[in-house]
Amino acid sequence: MADDDRAIREALAKILSKEGFQVLLAEDGRKALDLLRTHRAQIILADLKMPGLSGLELLKAAKAISPEVEVIMITGHGSIEEAVEAMKEGAYDFITKPFQRVSLMKAVRKALEKQALVVENRALQARLVELQQQGRIIGTSPAMQRVLELVEQVAGSSATILIQGESGTGKELIANAIHAFSPRHDRPFLKVNCAAIPETLLESELFGYEKGAFTGAFARKAGRFEMAHEGTMFLDEVGDLHPGTQAKLLRVLQEGEFERLGGTKTLKVDIRIIAATNTDLAQAVREKRFREDLYYRLNVITIPLPPLQERQEDIPLLTHHFLRISAAKNNKALEGFTPEVLDLLQTYPWPGNVRELENAIERAVVLSKGRLIEPKDLPETITGQGPSERERAITIPLGTPLEEVEQRLIEATLEQTKGDKTLAAKLLGIASRTIYRKLKQK
Ligand SMILES: Nc1ncnc2c1ncn2[C@@H]1O[C@H](COP(=O)(O)OP(=O)(O)OP(=O)(O)O)[C@@H](O)[C@H]1O
Ligand SMILES: [Mg+2]
Repeated sequence: MADDDRAIREALAKILSKEGFQVLLAEDGRKALDLLRTHRAQIILADLKMPGLSGLELLKAAKAISPEVEVIMITGHGSIEEAVEAMKEGAYDFITKPFQRVSLMKAVRKALEKQALVVENRALQARLVELQQQGRIIGTSPAMQRVLELVEQVAGSSATILIQGESGTGKELIANAIHAFSPRHDRPFLKVNCAAIPETLLESELFGYEKGAFTGAFARKAGRFEMAHEGTMFLDEVGDLHPGTQAKLLRVLQEGEFERLGGTKTLKVDIRIIAATNTDLAQAVREKRFREDLYYRLNVITIPLPPLQERQEDIPLLTHHFLRISAAKNNKALEGFTPEVLDLLQTYPWPGNVRELENAIERAVVLSKGRLIEPKDLPETITGQGPSERERAITIPLGTPLEEVEQRLIEATLEQTKGDKTLAAKLLGIASRTIYRKLKQK
């Protein structure tokens, strides 16, 4: 609270401390501003007329330093106009001198309520940003641009789509996008993971069952295919379907028909199928693990999703994308990554693809203590990468004299151990003095 009148300062401080508030006092605007730089304030009570920095100027400066602070002006009589101007500049309220304890506390309470609302709103906003970001497909690399073009082209039709890609490349994300951009977007989008569910359970999930179809089938139950009518069905890991289920699925694809388990009535549905697999279906067909006719039905349009390693250009964007999401989710004010981290992320081969990258960033966000993510925040699999295959080998042309081979091997090993001769000697299985001797000979 800032006022040049000591009596007022003390009166206010007394009332507010009694109400349980912590009060900082300043005898003019400049002092108040100094306090704001070092302390967090929720509410500022400021006299309009003060020597040096006026109440209005303090208001503007305070809002610039911490936008969430609420300012209540204290005015003498006759300066109502200025108080109104202060309100236009963003003051929350004003009280006139001499003021009553009740009116002071009412103004303070209302200002605090408003502030809580603003903060809550901001949290909601952050959550919204997070949600919007979540469905977004990041990818400016040529490989991803081709994928996105394909998605756009096929979304409008009802054609069956097969998404093929290693684990964690974004198959489900692409399936979501196709449904979202399709005319069916306001109809159901159902997902079934064909690998996660045992055969009989999977069939009753997909096709439903009649009462008494098997022990425990106490009442008729609709299957996913029925529920997805006029919508889209995402069949994840379709390569793991059992032969019997493959045949039934083929019929759904060809005729749009099926029966509930234990039922005789044929049901007709209009469903778009998007299937995904991380195995080579063509290979599975050759090995007779997957029906050829079903393969051709599914493979009308294939969207191949390249491994992350083949679209390294996307890594920086993805990295920042996941940082934003994770930081918002974990309520952390993180600004970015150290250059070493960016380097590590760019060169790591990412066998788990985008999912692995996403997990690594989320973990780093949780562990991080500063404003930037540092190498120590990354999992050891990424930071602890030993030297690459190429760095660990040297090429020696046939016919190189042995002595020179020895020299080059010692030099290369020393390079690896960063000049540590004892370690190099250990690696080479010789005494360190031998290294010294051999190097001297050169
Ligand atoms: N291009 C991308 N842009 C933004 N986020 C992505 C991208 N690709 C994948 N992701 C995110 O990475 C995670 C893994 O993606 P998704 O689940 O779609 O992969 P998947 O291929 O289905 O993996 P799995 O084979 O393990 O089921 C998800 O959180 C997804 O949102
Ligand atoms: Mg998946």
